[in-house]
Amino acid sequence: MLSSNTPIVDWSDRTVWLIGASDGIGLALGQLLQTRGATLVVSARRAEALAQHFPDPAVLKLPLDVNDSDAMRLAVEQLQAKHHLPDVVVWMVGQYEPTALLDLSPQAAKAVLQTNLLSAYDALAAVLPAWRHQLASAHQVGQGAGKRWPRPHWVFVSSVAGYRGLPRAADYGASKAGLSHLAQVAHIELKPIGMDVSLVSPGFVSTRLTAKNSFKMPAVITPEQAAHSILKGLAKGQFEIHFPKRLSLLLKLLGLLPIGLYLRLIQAINPRQS
Ligand SMILES: NC(=O)c1ccc[n+]([C@@H]2O[C@H](COP(=O)([O-])OP(=O)(O)OC[C@H]3O[C@@H](n4cnc5c(N)ncnc54)[C@H](OP(=O)(O)O)[C@@H]3O)[C@@H](O)[C@H]2O)c1
Repeated sequence: MLSSNTPIVDWSDRTVWLIGASDGIGLALGQLLQTRGATLVVSARRAEALAQHFPDPAVLKLPLDVNDSDAMRLAVEQLQAKHHLPDVVVWMVGQYEPTALLDLSPQAAKAVLQTNLLSAYDALAAVLPAWRHQLASAHQVGQGAGKRWPRPHWVFVSSVAGYRGLPRAADYGASKAGLSHLAQVAHIELKPIGMDVSLVSPGFVSTRLTAKNSFKMPAVITPEQAAHSILKGLAKGQFEIHFPKRLSLLLKLLGLLPIGLYLRLIQAINPRQS
């Protein structure tokens, strides 16, 4: 199989910025990356949760709210000043409140789009110039002797909910469809300038996020299984890492249906809202 990205197998020379590391899949991925020898920078809003889950002083804790664009920019400046610029960014943050469209407030919908999608543009704007600068200096160093810099890699954690319309996900599904689109554009534009981009599309994972679902989730997996699948996909250099396959492949197949047929099928499955 053709690799879309440079496979990441050895994490011991990688510095990973995990944004959304205090809970769920991000926490499991951070803990797994620690066992693989990665240098970690972890972010989320709750400083105390980061300190509790990552007590190792070698893990740099950078609590922040991704909706604060100044905080995002300052965090990157701080990392550069400490010579600790990450060469892998995992955009893990996510917010989800399953709500029917008729009950959805515009403020709540905008907040979800802001956190899941729009703040990613602030993160990209803060990190990409620093990566370009670092690649240019590493190139100069490469002409002589000195430390090489690994090929930088951005991992967008989206969702299978971004594939096509699903009930009670008017804001979340739209934010993830946008994020998946952004990941594709980023891959097209950044790969030629030496940066890799991958897209993670999980199905249902048992976390506080999905604890809000009132239905029985099909093919649900644990955050630890999700973390292993992400590292497996990165080791293969895949652009899209989707799992569990028994759900993600089914949804991909449904995505191939003519849109009219797809909508009728989902309407038939979805219980009618009164
Ligand atoms: N669970 C699933 O079934 C599933 C399925 C598909 C996709 N996903 C995606 O996978 C990712 C992780 O989901 P999860 O289920 O692990 O959720 P989670 O347990 O709720 O974790 C979300 C993480 O994002 C952080 N976060 C949320 N808002 C933030 C903000 N404004 N600024 C900084 N950090 C923020 C949270 O930390 P703080 O609260 O401390 O800020 C937490 O660390 C999300 O992008 C989600 O959409 C999940």
